[in-house]
Amino acid sequence: MEIKTLGVIGAGQMGSGIAQVASTSGLNVIMNDIRDEFVENGFSTIEKSLDRMVKKEKITGDEMEAILGRIEGSTGLEDMIRADAVVEAATEDVALKLEIFRNLDGFCKPGVILSSNTSSISITKIAGATSRPELVIGMHFMNPVPMMKLVEVIRGLATSDDTFETTRTLALKMGKTPVAANDYPGFVANRILMPMINEAVYALFEGVGTAEDIDEIMKLGLNHPMGPLTLADLIGLDTCLAILEVLHKGLGDGKYRPCPLLRKYVDAGWLGRKSGRGFYVY
Ligand code: CAA
Repeated sequence: MEIKTLGVIGAGQMGSGIAQVASTSGLNVIMNDIRDEFVENGFSTIEKSLDRMVKKEKITGDEMEAILGRIEGSTGLEDMIRADAVVEAATEDVALKLEIFRNLDGFCKPGVILSSNTSSISITKIAGATSRPELVIGMHFMNPVPMMKLVEVIRGLATSDDTFETTRTLALKMGKTPVAANDYPGFVANRILMPMINEAVYALFEGVGTAEDIDEIMKLGLNHPMGPLTLADLIGLDTCLAILEVLHKGLGDGKYRPCPLLRKYVDAGWLGRKSGRGFYVY
């Protein structure tokens, strides 16, 4: 099936970014979230990102209008009946994702590939909530989606070769570089990134350094574009905690134990950039 219309579930920072790059590549996009205001926030994130690109003369004002014009907002999952492929980018919560996939399986046309942008949850388990496990796959984009080249492509136990190839082709069309990873907790990117972020939080917790100094040391000493605590604030501390819980539970090793300070920040609602406060104040 030729993919002309892509459904995106979730209009948060990842969902809106995925909608933006899909539309930029010429696809029609249905960007869905549970409430109108979430969809509107998604559109305003996309506008800000495109505005930046217009100012830098990477795209023209007309191109920006065309990109926005190809994205349709939606608050009903039944709209996905018109999608030729779907990428789910809802909150990192297993029960929620299983429910979304169960519903998508009911609404989407037969043969439609259902992919998840999950950062750590088992694709095999998500696929198990549908009657089409051979058509379920992981498409893990990185934040900020318009800037980051990688898409980790994760096959579940039953994912077919056709689904894998079509997904790779879709990622390439969206201007990304697909790289395969196997279905284990956290796949590759977060299996390695999250223990580093967690260790940075422990270093802060134990007073090894201030947030600023920990970040500066990692930036200047290891040539990272951002320090780990700044990056955690960008990703969202709730998302970091959720991924660490999946690693801890799924791999059963104490080395993935989330730092108590991370848990405390999340309890306080200090979720990073999106809530205005995390390790830094925005
Ligand atoms: N939309 C459009 N343009 C953007 C943008 C956005 N959302 N964000 C940044 N840019 C552009 C800027 O306009 C700027 O353009 P020019 O080069 O033309 O000037 C360029 O990107 C660089 O931006 P800045 O100068 O503001 O800042 P920077 O040099 O630090 O780059 C960054 C920003 C690309 C985000 C860089 O800091 C970076 O690569 N950080 C690390 C990001 C990272 O590790 N992401 C992975 C997170 S983990 C994940 O996503 C997986 C998961 O499951 C949790």
